[in-house]
Amino acid sequence: MSQKDVGNKIPIYKLKTTNEVMKYYDEWGIKNKYDQDMEEWNYTGPKESSQIFNEYCDKKDVKIYDAGCGTGLVGVELKKYGFSKFYGADLSQKLLDLVPKKLYASLKKVDLNKAIDEKDNSFDAVICIGTFTFGHVKPHALDEFIRITKNDGLICFTINEGIYEEYGFDKKIEQLNNNKFWKKIEFFKSDYIASKDVNAWLGLYKVVK
Ligand SMILES: C[S@@+](CC[C@H](N)C(=O)[O-])C[C@H]1O[C@@H](n2cnc3c(N)ncnc32)[C@H](O)[C@@H]1O
Repeated sequence: MSQKDVGNKIPIYKLKTTNEVMKYYDEWGIKNKYDQDMEEWNYTGPKESSQIFNEYCDKKDVKIYDAGCGTGLVGVELKKYGFSKFYGADLSQKLLDLVPKKLYASLKKVDLNKAIDEKDNSFDAVICIGTFTFGHVKPHALDEFIRITKNDGLICFTINEGIYEEYGFDKKIEQLNNNKFWKKIEFFKSDYIASKDVNAWLGLYKVVK
């Protein structure tokens, strides 16, 4: 457990199974409550990550896989910088239904704890914001993100500080570094949901194949 006891700060952090998580988000989407809460909590994950991504990605026509896209908050932010080719994947069909029309080229209901049904090297970038958190997606997904990303492509993600060590993200990142599967560009503690005293590691890596 982290010193801050992050696991007690938000109810969803208590959920254990993928089914529980899916049901929770399906209900959270009703009457746009998820988006309203994110605004009220000043959830800055999509803004912070899009800003960093934009700093290191010159080309605007890159194909971006948004892993755990939810209601599309990341696409909304990336679009402000001129990016436009988003391919969303999420566990909650109810949240996918709330993604603004025509913002994403495709939207798929996917469990990211399983193998991703996309070809090797099919994306220029993967972005995964707010989805490495309690009871959600496990470190193994990073292997899949690398697999579907092209050489020199970018992987941008947040990891909730409360699970970084507990779920073994520290070890997974070390392993990917040691095996030279990717190169670190940025890795720092971001604000994330500062209003709830919950921070996240924000990483941006370049894939090496
Ligand atoms: C905190 S939300 C973040 C959504 C969006 N990226 C954002 O920043 O607003 C976490 C998302 O992860 C999704 N999720 C949780 N477990 C998942 C899984 N096993 N596979 C795919 N998506 C999952 C949820 O449905 C939810 O949309």
